Amino acid sequence: MLTSVGLFSGIGGIEEGLRRAGWQTRLLCEIDPAARAVLRQRFPGVKISSDIKELAGLPEVDLVTAGFPCQDLSQAGTTKGINGRKSGLVREVFRLLGERNRVQKWVLLENVPFMLQLDGGRAMRVITTGLEDLGYTWAYRTVDARAFGLPQRRKRVLILASKTEDPRDVLLSGDNPPAYLPARKRPLACGFYWTEGNTGLGWAIDAIPALKPGSAISIPSPPAIWLPRPRKIVTPDVRDAERLQGFPVDWTRPAVNCDGCSERERWRLIGNAVNVRVSKWIGKKLRNPGRHDTHMDTKQRKNDRWEPAGWGRKGERYSTNVSEWPAQYGYRSLAEFLAYEGTPLSSRAASGFLRRARSSKLRFQPGFLEDIAYHIERIEEGLRRAS
Ligand SMILES: C[S@@+](CC[C@H](N)C(=O)[O-])C[C@H]1O[C@@H](n2cnc3c(N)ncnc32)[C@H](O)[C@@H]1O
Repeated sequence: MLTSVGLFSGIGGIEEGLRRAGWQTRLLCEIDPAARAVLRQRFPGVKISSDIKELAGLPEVDLVTAGFPCQDLSQAGTTKGINGRKSGLVREVFRLLGERNRVQKWVLLENVPFMLQLDGGRAMRVITTGLEDLGYTWAYRTVDARAFGLPQRRKRVLILASKTEDPRDVLLSGDNPPAYLPARKRPLACGFYWTEGNTGLGWAIDAIPALKPGSAISIPSPPAIWLPRPRKIVTPDVRDAERLQGFPVDWTRPAVNCDGCSERERWRLIGNAVNVRVSKWIGKKLRNPGRHDTHMDTKQRKNDRWEPAGWGRKGERYSTNVSEWPAQYGYRSLAEFLAYEGTPLSSRAASGFLRRARSSKLRFQPGFLEDIAYHIERIEEGLRRAS
């Protein structure tokens, strides 16, 4: 049985995917009490450490995973970068990997693609140098959750490293051009962040934009969905959010009422998670790698930008021309995928969004703002009738 340790485990997105690919988790490490409540129920019998800074060592396993905090590396976060208090915790992973007399065949890191751009890719330089200093060869790839059949536009960077194996064969083999290009003939559901509207919306056609731990106003909140038939603006049910991340329904229920956590906390936990289908794919590829095609590689200079995929060792790095779609699952359209009714977006939220959107310079899909206005009218009319 292949074994793993999950650092920064959250609600166990990586570990659940690995389990589905036949792996066994030996140790979890997570500081957040609500996430820990989920892990206790979903991974019974697995030891859960709390603060990574207090973790003295790792057991000998085949894989160490670390979806380390993204708050300082994401566009919606502090953008303090890899030296920020939270994302800088990745250095704790290097401390643990640096321990003598323990062998971990593989290391998997995960974070947001904005880290490829932020400060000219400084986070990538720090991470890859840290890995190389420990003797690792590394490969990275940006992957989109839509490649795994889920209507969520969620791109994440996976970094895989090993001292003894070739990470390129796992991560960079297998390429599918995006199969799914929305057919615009029929009206499609679109996802957007109703908390935004000034400079962007996180707009996604026939998908929701990436679920995130907090909105632009720092509250864990869902995106909204514009359903064209019948015309409706809803926020999805939290159980559909779990499904959009590849979890079974009610995976995060154990978090509710843990140390006073509210139902809303579930959105934060789900937004923080690694998509289960993505981690199942990598768990399977680790068992059964492909063959990396070196014709796809281009040598990079030190200050070149970080392309969406590549690899490196001993101070040399290459970009690799592979897509963000390493797999080809059948795509289910968003309207069909949703299994629960959802909640109409409140008139207050919709009105605030409409006001911001109308005074912004953004351009919108025809009919979208009209449908928001229609939605507000219908809700207010219903309220008038009821009073
Ligand atoms: C991006 S999330 C992890 C997602 C997770 N790896 C998965 O597979 O779904 C980062 C996690 O790191 C946790 N974290 C932050 N600081 C920590 C610390 N000092 N020790 C352990 N966990 C920490 C956060 O609570 C959060 O759940």
